[in-house]
Amino acid sequence: MIKTVVTPAEVQQLVREWRRQGIKVALVPTMGNLHAGHLALVKHAQTLGERVIVSIFVNPTQFNRPDDLVNYPRTLDKDMEKLISVGCDAVFTPEASAMYPSGGLATRVTVPGISDILEGEKRPGHFTGVATIVCKLFNLVQPDVALFGQKDFQQLMVIRQMVADLNMPIEIIELPTVRETDGLAMSSRNNYLNAEQRAIAPRLQQTLQATLQRLYAGDYTSYQDLQQWTMDELDSKGFKAEYIEIRRASDLLAPNPEDKDLVLLASAWLGKARLIDNIPFKLP
Ligand code: PAF
Repeated sequence: MIKTVVTPAEVQQLVREWRRQGIKVALVPTMGNLHAGHLALVKHAQTLGERVIVSIFVNPTQFNRPDDLVNYPRTLDKDMEKLISVGCDAVFTPEASAMYPSGGLATRVTVPGISDILEGEKRPGHFTGVATIVCKLFNLVQPDVALFGQKDFQQLMVIRQMVADLNMPIEIIELPTVRETDGLAMSSRNNYLNAEQRAIAPRLQQTLQATLQRLYAGDYTSYQDLQQWTMDELDSKGFKAEYIEIRRASDLLAPNPEDKDLVLLASAWLGKARLIDNIPFKLP
């Protein structure tokens, strides 16, 4: 039987009891509208912890556009069915008033530097919202391990830095992006695509693959030109590319010639959906 806990006091009591029994706890933080990517995190969590708890909370402080917060899909009944089907132990579904008892003037957690570039530049305040809620969830659940998907590549780096900076005794595990059969990265925001846009959407990943093929073939003059080529390709297919960047995988800064571990990061609008994707890669 899955346990549902709603208040901070309930979740604290549940995990206190688990810890008293020496049970290892794994947390999968989500905003609900669960898809196969989330369920892959839960299944992997089951191999790492003796109890798995999923949090479902559409966190208002990480939305920089009010319409995105209002339209964000909320599908709790279906989410519960999916969590039951994979044998998840508990789900935490708090109210906003409980997570933010002081309202708008609440304490915030800001991870400097990494939060200000790329996604952070396009979505001001987003990563402070993410770091704040993940910190609160970590404080309440005190998990041994927490799992996140690589689709939100920069989010993972923000969370890792917060955990290191605040000396949190929590292991962060990342799992590869789960994709639809046509290559589109799974995301709740794919729900915003109409049928025509949904048919175009896999071209984001295909175009990123084509970019890497050009890069490996040496078929470019500079990263700048290659990034611009990718943006133009996407725009010609019906996207509005927001950024395409080749960055150092370790800190997302511009790579030096000797850097080998890189990542190609993309953000592109398709209709009302803002899609992000990335491909980590190694230079020979
Ligand atoms: O990746 C998400 O779904 C959210 O950003 C997270 C980590 C659950 C925080 O609200």
